[in-house]
Amino acid sequence: MATQQFVAVVLLACIALPTAPVWGLNITAILNGYPDYKMFNKYLSETKVCDEINARESVTLLVLGDGPMSSLVLDADQSLAGIKNALRLHSLLDYFDPRKLHGLTDGTTLTDSLYQAGGDAAGKMGNVNITNLRGGKVAFSSANPGGKYDATFVKAIKQMPYKLSIIEISAPIEFDGLFDTPSATNLTRLLEKAGCKRFAALIASTGVLKTYESAMDKGLTLFAPNDDAFDAKGAPDVKTMPSADLVTLLKYHALPVYNPKPSLKTVSRPLRTLASTASGKYNITVVTKGDDVALDTGVDKSRVAATVIDDTPVCVLTVDSLLMPVELFGDAPAAAPSPDDAPAPAPSVADASPPAPPPADAPSKAADHKELKASSAAALRSVGAFAAAVFSTVLL
Ligand SMILES: *[C@@H]1O[C@H](CO)[C@@H](O)[C@H](O)[C@H]1NC(C)=O
Ligand SMILES: *[C@@H]1O[C@H](CO)[C@@H](O)[C@H](O)[C@H]1NC(C)=O
Ligand SMILES: *[C@@H]1O[C@H](CO)[C@@H](O)[C@H](O)[C@H]1NC(C)=O
Ligand SMILES: *[C@@H]1O[C@H](CO)[C@@H](O)[C@H](O)[C@H]1NC(C)=O
Repeated sequence: MATQQFVAVVLLACIALPTAPVWGLNITAILNGYPDYKMFNKYLSETKVCDEINARESVTLLVLGDGPMSSLVLDADQSLAGIKNALRLHSLLDYFDPRKLHGLTDGTTLTDSLYQAGGDAAGKMGNVNITNLRGGKVAFSSANPGGKYDATFVKAIKQMPYKLSIIEISAPIEFDGLFDTPSATNLTRLLEKAGCKRFAALIASTGVLKTYESAMDKGLTLFAPNDDAFDAKGAPDVKTMPSADLVTLLKYHALPVYNPKPSLKTVSRPLRTLASTASGKYNITVVTKGDDVALDTGVDKSRVAATVIDDTPVCVLTVDSLLMPVELFGDAPAAAPSPDDAPAPAPSVADASPPAPPPADAPSKAADHKELKASSAAALRSVGAFAAAVFSTVLL
């Protein structure tokens, strides 16, 4: 890195660090102060889009009164996943207050939204076009072909430069396909497609699939180990486990609530799983480091890898290893050095074939996460996100 760039990074970091606490806003609490947007706020919570907004450094939220919000809900066929798409499109990733809106260069601009940031929408799909119409009206539309200018500026609700701006608009911003969402109706098929065939077969043969399915109405977050996880060193042999233990193990892989990945990042306390007892046995703990989320079972930690589906209130995520509850597998870490783990003899260095990553990787990952205790996780998260932003800005 050039010296100038380095200096820029250090300077920016020094200037910005003291402002870190400002980022800890709570959009739900703020909107609670405005009863006109009660319905909008309710869906923001139900779909957990609030967690994504809270994690952002600069957002303009285009809110709707109960009338326009009801029509959005109808347009989405009441599908929570469809409503979630729309709410993400209404969350712009830039700060616009009335002055900035009325002073747009050339009278128009395109801006990114959370819809795009989800990675499930390509290119322009998540862009919102803001245009000054004649007569001082400001209109908002999807930048997709056929986007209509039904939505216009009504009033500014709250401005916190340059962190959060809340603006009421007159109608929902929509486009053809906005409400199309993948469906979680057949978990088995989803899991098979996502490389979790062995997990899919196990939940079917033990009947735990039914337990998952009956939780799906209210909320379900499923952590599915990929096929390789069953062969990893230290993984339990599911074929020889007593069946009651196996059922508990599989139930342990699901939460009875909807917690997509951005929301998992916000919890650092133990969460109930489908296996949890009243006394909190078989709870699981989330550990966050920057953009990485891992689950701590008390025995080991497993990285949350990919989102297979986010179909509010059901969410399926893959994990790198089986989640082994301390209640079943004791506190002897599976990853603890065993004779087999002793450093490989010298020839392996010269060996052309790459070493198998999972066993070698796991202990160091676990150690990384151990440094991070719940209390400092939030602060580190903000700083990490900021540092990432600075680096990408400087390196552009
Ligand atoms: C945000 O505020 C709401 C309402 O006051 C509260 O229920 C919720 O727990 C808060 N969320 C966070 C992340 O603090
Ligand atoms: C936004 O839409 C208006 C009207 O269709 C168009 O004239 C303008 O070029 C668009 N703005 C951008 C930045 O694409
Ligand atoms: C779900 O998908 C699996 C695998 O593709 C298939 O065997 C099964 O019949 C499907 N179940 C339903 C209820 O459609
Ligand atoms: C288990 O999780 C629930 C829900 O978060 C929590 O209320 C309870 O205190 C936890 N119990 C233990 C022992 O961690």
